[in-house]
Amino acid sequence: MKDAAPVTIHLKDYTPFGWQLSDVHLTFHLAPRSTRVVSKIHFTPNPEAPAQDFFLHGEQLTLIRAAIDGVDVTPEVTEDGLRCAVPDGPFLWECEVEIAPADNTALEGLYMSSGMYCTQCEAEGFRKITYFPDRPDVMSVFTVRVEGDLPVLLSNGNSVQRGDGFAEWHDPWPKPAYLFALVAGDLVNHPDSFTTMNGRKVKLNIWVRPGDEGKCAFGMEALKKSMRWDEEVYGREYDLEVFNIVAVDDFNMGAMENKGLNIFNSSCVLASPETSTDDNFERIESIIAHEYFHNWTGNRITCRDWFQLCLKEGLTVFRDQQFTKDIRSAPVKRIDDVASLRGRQFPEDQGPLAHPVRPESFQEINNFYTATVYDKGAEVIGMLKTLVGDEAYAKALTLYFDRHDGDAATIEDWLKVFEDTTGRDLAQFKRWYSQAGTPRVSVTEDWADGTYTLTFAQTTRPTPGQPEKAPQVIPMAVGLLNPNGDEVVPTRVLEITEETQSFRFDELAARPIPSINRGFSAPVVLDRDSSSEERAFLLAHDTDPVNRWEASLLLGRDCLFAMITENAGPDVAWLDGLERVLRDRDLDPAFRAMMMGWPSQNEMAQVLFERGVTPDPDAIFAAQETLTQFKAERWADLLPSLAAEGTVDAAYRPDADQSGKRALGSAVLALTTRLDGGKAAQAQFESADNMTLQLSALGQLVRVGKDQDALAAFEAQWCKDRLVMDKWFGLQVGATAPDNVVPRATALTQHADFDWKNPNRFRAVLGAMAMNHAGFHRKDGAGYALLTEWLIKLDDLNPQTTARMCSAFQTWKRYDADRQALIRVQLERLRDKPKLSRDTAEMVARILG
Ligand code: ARG
Ligand code: ZN
Repeated sequence: MKDAAPVTIHLKDYTPFGWQLSDVHLTFHLAPRSTRVVSKIHFTPNPEAPAQDFFLHGEQLTLIRAAIDGVDVTPEVTEDGLRCAVPDGPFLWECEVEIAPADNTALEGLYMSSGMYCTQCEAEGFRKITYFPDRPDVMSVFTVRVEGDLPVLLSNGNSVQRGDGFAEWHDPWPKPAYLFALVAGDLVNHPDSFTTMNGRKVKLNIWVRPGDEGKCAFGMEALKKSMRWDEEVYGREYDLEVFNIVAVDDFNMGAMENKGLNIFNSSCVLASPETSTDDNFERIESIIAHEYFHNWTGNRITCRDWFQLCLKEGLTVFRDQQFTKDIRSAPVKRIDDVASLRGRQFPEDQGPLAHPVRPESFQEINNFYTATVYDKGAEVIGMLKTLVGDEAYAKALTLYFDRHDGDAATIEDWLKVFEDTTGRDLAQFKRWYSQAGTPRVSVTEDWADGTYTLTFAQTTRPTPGQPEKAPQVIPMAVGLLNPNGDEVVPTRVLEITEETQSFRFDELAARPIPSINRGFSAPVVLDRDSSSEERAFLLAHDTDPVNRWEASLLLGRDCLFAMITENAGPDVAWLDGLERVLRDRDLDPAFRAMMMGWPSQNEMAQVLFERGVTPDPDAIFAAQETLTQFKAERWADLLPSLAAEGTVDAAYRPDADQSGKRALGSAVLALTTRLDGGKAAQAQFESADNMTLQLSALGQLVRVGKDQDALAAFEAQWCKDRLVMDKWFGLQVGATAPDNVVPRATALTQHADFDWKNPNRFRAVLGAMAMNHAGFHRKDGAGYALLTEWLIKLDDLNPQTTARMCSAFQTWKRYDADRQALIRVQLERLRDKPKLSRDTAEMVARILG
């Protein structure tokens, strides 16, 4: 809690811990309000560290007893830890503390969720369990004894002993405290096994609350696929006798890679066709892969300090993206990732929260689990791979695993393996890690005597704390097309290193049409004055699926821009081009479904702002509505055949093929609903036998305001299923007309099932409200006020989730003076709240600027 001035921690101040830990023994005597934790740790002076006081982190602990080499001591205890005089040489530290997991509403450390004990220690939660050097470069071998009158008692590593009311676990792999985990409760398991590349049989379990056992099979398959994929693609084998996954209902984030005992938000692991959508299935598969892949990129090789977070997160996101591309459709996955990068990371990188992929300072590290660290971090690795090539990438990774296994490593270590493998100097490339902000690349072209020249100029605008930017290395994948649509120069990667740089293509018969930044080879904003004819040409002919989609998106932006600012009508040429794509049955339905999307309202707000027009959320909403109606009418003849293509007759499978078809079907339903007022949606809602169809139909009924009966029927059907009810809460706020958003959100916060202490439920209502662009940004500021009221309430209980949701305000400088004034009032109200958490205080201060 922020009583004193906030403390800022700097990367440049890193110093190693003064001791090494050979082994850690923990005993837990579980009780909801009086859990006793006994620790025994052997400390040995660290010859590589400067002299320092013996300080152990600890928060919200009651110290019962401490002893050194068997003699009781009285440490000096403060709010954030303890200090103690210690011998010069090695010594045994013994300590007993008491904690109250049942009162832990922050969901960090040891806490309780629906009667079960569970933990979340990343980043700095272990210090709420016992006194410890809670930093990722302090690694040790843990042995854990759990005592409690509960049927299932789990911790990291291998099971050593199990008896009445106790269990003992031993994890042979040295690990930092943030990877510690403990779970205890009345759980049932979905068991399976996996035989590794070297023939070792590993027990696999997914542990869930009784009643959820039917929702584990898909996650288990995803786990086995991930284990096989990491062996085949990265040569990485699993290294314990057992791998446990636990589903927990109350969880601040998606999931956590604790060694041998992954803990998941139940929404990120439980799945069944009746209760989960195709998107849920795909997301679950990728999160299971992500957490599993952390076993090597994160656990076996961890981070020296939290500034290096992207070392494990960027790389692990990159790996899970590769995995999804391999087992589903690569182009569709890439377009998804690009869209989400632009939707979530670009606004962050271009606003008050901008920070480098490797930040240089923080007050609360939990505030840096961001789209920049994760998703831009993954893009940086993708660029590195593009620059050095696949073979060198594979070699560099093998060297990384060989050289750094067991280490707490840095970005310098990471880049060094690439330098050593390729002989390349990566000093300039490293700016991707240190400079915040999205680079802007403007392109001009020249054509004379068969020579075509592309000139690129890069700039990056100032970001908080970084007024000046130096040029970065930008791998720009470019292909050239002939006017007849043939590819004359296949994709080649131009390496831009200068502020301004030209590239020549000789001996061309005709002036080509360029396709630039293919595959989104660099996470930049491309500035290029291209005609709509050229975009339409690329929409029709580009061989690169990402740029084909991009061409349509750019046309869509321009069309909406003209509709909003000049009262123009929809761009018919664009829609005709799009129609040809939609009619092309050789194209993947999933890809065509994506082509039917267009810039979101949030994206249009950014586009307007960039072009010097203050976005009016109501005008953006109105233009989108007009455009949708226009499309529906123009394509009325096409819709039935597309709907047929989007229909699946076979038994439900959540695979790429079927999900793609259903995605097309649902995009078509959105248009059909504009023509029939919801008839088709109602029919689909009534006949649906899976959640994908049921929910897409319900979404349309909400959109057209014919949702009363359907919402009631849905609630009656699913009121016992927490995860499905999250969808019910979220959809009626997220999909409804702007005027309804705040009243509905307000009413739902009074619903008996609005359990606001549960992060999933809180986000379902308040998060959905903040995502409904025109609804949240209504003129009178009621959306801002409602969100703030709830953030103030939640901050006392759960700072982490509160702080994260403050980012709803990060784009506030885009809007008009009145809206900015309304938002400022709310941000200041939040800032001035008594006992504001350190997490929220930092976010609000950064957003206010
Ligand atoms: N390491 C986890 C993951 O990416 C996420 C942990 C998030 N922790 C936090 N304090 N926000 O898979
Ligand atoms: Zn991760």
